[in-house]
Amino acid sequence: MAVREIRIYGDPVLKAVAEKVTNIDGAMVSIIDDMIDTLNASSNGIGLAANQIGVDKQIFIYSFDEDKPPKAIINPVITESDGEWVYDEGCLSVPGLHWEIVRPKVVNMKGLDINGNEVEIEADELFGRLIQHELDHLNGKLLLEYLDSDQVKEAKRAIREIVANRANNNPESKI
Ligand code: NI
Repeated sequence: MAVREIRIYGDPVLKAVAEKVTNIDGAMVSIIDDMIDTLNASSNGIGLAANQIGVDKQIFIYSFDEDKPPKAIINPVITESDGEWVYDEGCLSVPGLHWEIVRPKVVNMKGLDINGNEVEIEADELFGRLIQHELDHLNGKLLLEYLDSDQVKEAKRAIREIVANRANNNPESKI
């Protein structure tokens, strides 16, 4: 188990469509353990997709309650969505930034749990938003795609600063 580096906007792995998991073996379970450690170590993270730690697989985890271990969903698909809901949405791969984004309020999702059992979840508001956000990640999409061009410009400037500061604070980084 290990805390992995969370990939930031600009990393190509975040733009790739993640591969379906065909076999939930020890390697997958160990990836999920790393995702859980990484989410627990993040500040205020409630969801994480595998490609955010550089793993090109259709897996995300979520956690709304600090007392409960995060749960994993494998090969998730949204089967229905309904309504509209505005939420001030952020992302661990776009740190420090958030925008009010409109998306469907309720979604139905199907997927597998860590034991390979089928799960079906109907989720609204924040949980519904999380599912849509993580599914976007697994389809290579970030929340910047919901912004207008001025917001994107501003976001890119802010992200460049965050990445530069990260590099400066990391003694092992090379120029
Ligand atoms: Ni995100």
